[in-house]
Amino acid sequence: MEKVFKGDFPILKNSKFSYLDSGATSQHPTCVLNDVISYYKKNNANPHRGSYSLSVKATKLYENAREGVKNFINAKSSAEIIFTKNATESLNLIAYSYGLNNLKKGDEIVLSIMEHHSMIVPFQMVAKKTGATLKYIYLNDDFCLDEQEIEKKITKNTKIVGISTVSNVLGTKNDVKKIVKKAHSVGAVVVCDASQSIAHMPLDVQNLDVDFAVFSGHKMFAPLGIGVLFGKQSLLLKMPPFLFGGDMIEYVDEQNTTFAPLPQKFEAGTQNVGGAVGLLSAINYINEIGYKEIQKYENNLTDYAYKNLTKLKFLEVYATKNKENRSSVLSFNIKGIHAHDVSSILDLENVFVRSGNHCAQPLLKHMKVSSTIRASFSIYNTKQDVDNLVFALNEAYKKFKKYIKD
Ligand code: ALA
Repeated sequence: MEKVFKGDFPILKNSKFSYLDSGATSQHPTCVLNDVISYYKKNNANPHRGSYSLSVKATKLYENAREGVKNFINAKSSAEIIFTKNATESLNLIAYSYGLNNLKKGDEIVLSIMEHHSMIVPFQMVAKKTGATLKYIYLNDDFCLDEQEIEKKITKNTKIVGISTVSNVLGTKNDVKKIVKKAHSVGAVVVCDASQSIAHMPLDVQNLDVDFAVFSGHKMFAPLGIGVLFGKQSLLLKMPPFLFGGDMIEYVDEQNTTFAPLPQKFEAGTQNVGGAVGLLSAINYINEIGYKEIQKYENNLTDYAYKNLTKLKFLEVYATKNKENRSSVLSFNIKGIHAHDVSSILDLENVFVRSGNHCAQPLLKHMKVSSTIRASFSIYNTKQDVDNLVFALNEAYKKFKKYIKD
């Protein structure tokens, strides 16, 4: 019998709804909730600042979480792990600190067209301020990045390549390792957005050889407000701080400041210890199940969803036909009906999905659609959730059928 993980998640245990929006935010297992509550009940203090024992304890828990993240993504050193509030802040840090200081007119930034606004907008800012050019790798007919586009767009002028492990709209898995090889062959650095894969697939930064990687805790069962930036130490050492303030300094006098070593140099202000504790707990939860088991379970579920959704003739599904390249996200539309209208009906049927442009407007424009409905799955979803989605879509179609023009 297949193990069902739903019982680990109190919000879902006896729920009447199908939560299919884990691509936006995941739910939390009891172990994460307990560890976070326990931190606030027993160990809360300002880390790195006090010499009293409670503060020392908070510091230890915070640094212990950093070590846990380092091991989880196979970084060489915990100095390469910077805690941020989410992937967006991590990407802004890279754009402001690395991008603005290393690019100039004539240089090129290459992003995949399936990137989230959190990658696109900071690098648009870098391009505008430095005079660099922003270029995109477009899709083939099967919703994957076009191999020839990769070859063509990454050139000797490329200085930064931005690529997500998995698209938050299409669910397509990208061959990051191959793109890294190509980028490194022309001397470019690679920024990898692992937000959509971190709860589903391992991230091994040494194996991928990415220069930077980012993800948010809240998409991997951890609390909101904690994120990670991984950067190769050789790069982070040369980068100026992004945010300035307490704890990122060494000495401050009236006019000048010297900065703390890594990773503190990039962590101004009181750190989110509760978030870091929750993140470590989420890592432990994932490790206990194991990515192998997670992938087996989720691939089975996503295949089931893909098969059943593609059977609905009134639906347009935007996903690769190659199941090896599909992750736990599926986007679709009822032909001729706006995604928001459909998702409102799904909501009435207690099926919670995201609809809209998913913070990926350039991708949707490229696909010539204004919005999609997105169902994103996680370890706690079941085939019943997929059946509920299919039932709700049929109900929506019945309601809207008369408005659909042939
Ligand atoms: N980045 C999140 C999503 O794709 C919010 O839904």
